[in-house]
Amino acid sequence: MELFDSLKYKIIRRNIKIVFPEATDPRILGAAVRLKADELVNPILVGNKAEVSEKAKSLGYQADSFTILDPNDYPEWDAMVESFVERRKGKATKEQAESILKDPNYFGTMLVYMGKADGMVSGAIHSTGDTVRPALQIIKTKPGVSRTSGAFLMVRGRDQEKYLFSDCAINVNPGAQELAEIAVESAKTAALFDIEPKVAMLSFSTKGSAKADEVTKVQEATRIAKELDPTIELDGELQFDAAYVPSVAAQKAPESDVAGKATVFVFPELEAGNIGYKIAQRFGGFEAIGPILQGLNQPISDLSRGSNEEDVYKLTIITAAQTLLK
Ligand SMILES: CC(C)(COP(=O)(O)OP(=O)(O)OC[C@H]1O[C@@H](n2cnc3c(N)ncnc32)[C@H](O)[C@@H]1OP(=O)(O)O)[C@@H](O)C(=O)NCCC(=O)NCCS
Repeated sequence: MELFDSLKYKIIRRNIKIVFPEATDPRILGAAVRLKADELVNPILVGNKAEVSEKAKSLGYQADSFTILDPNDYPEWDAMVESFVERRKGKATKEQAESILKDPNYFGTMLVYMGKADGMVSGAIHSTGDTVRPALQIIKTKPGVSRTSGAFLMVRGRDQEKYLFSDCAINVNPGAQELAEIAVESAKTAALFDIEPKVAMLSFSTKGSAKADEVTKVQEATRIAKELDPTIELDGELQFDAAYVPSVAAQKAPESDVAGKATVFVFPELEAGNIGYKIAQRFGGFEAIGPILQGLNQPISDLSRGSNEEDVYKLTIITAAQTLLK
């Protein structure tokens, strides 16, 4: 089954509620209309009801059947303010909360936190920081995960060659423990896309071929990741060719079960990860889908500002599928 057919099959008619804080953007409205018509998610639009309806009408859509929630006229506003102050434990006063929660990303994130929605998709007109920060502060990471990270699903060709790359979006220079957690979360994310996770901890060294602090970090992360979840097929440190090319693996890491067969590639720091996925995308002809934020208690997704309606549609399907991950 094609990737998105398989994901749609997982989420269809489950009434998964996804919040869209950027509801007057035509790309968001267009995707929301399609997602609802296809019975894949139940969209919650954030904004002024009249404004959102007007915008929808001008684009030829009917917004009457949508749930539209307005931070300036929300029946459970007081409960939301109280819940936010409680969650931020001394980091925001009631007055500050009243102002912060008018921001659609904070408001949308609180809807998820309070269980009014299952996930959120934003970032079509907001920066990564503005989209992700409310989630880091409110939704927070799952127990045992100290950092959220951003994975990219890399897909190529008709036969849907699929890999997962991470972290390509969030942590500039993760330590060994963080890198290990990123690897464990990446294995779970890969499984969501029916990728059998074989995790390569990437480096510029294979099995001690080079000596440097950077190499030691990846060796340490490999050890910790194996401790965190001994059931995952994971190995390191591996250079990309040793991880990906069977003949190189046979030479450089003959003992490894992962080398030459890796499907999940964990980069040692953000520079490598971000540059790496873009090289695969632009030179290698892969479609790069993401960043898919992993490790949060509930899924929040950050669109690129260059996204089109189809990108919004697809990332929302992924976000909805993530709500089924435990
Ligand atoms: C994600 C990002 C925006 C967060 O930045 P920030 O808001 O300055 O982060 P802060 O250090 O002020 O932390 C804000 C809160 O988030 C938490 N946090 C920050 N990074 C986190 C992470 N990776 N995982 C979990 N929590 C995190 C902090 O603990 C803090 O929580 P608190 O307020 O409850 O104490 C930042 O890490 C970033 O800019 N990363 C690079 C993104 C980027 O440019 N990517 C490029 C390609 S898309």
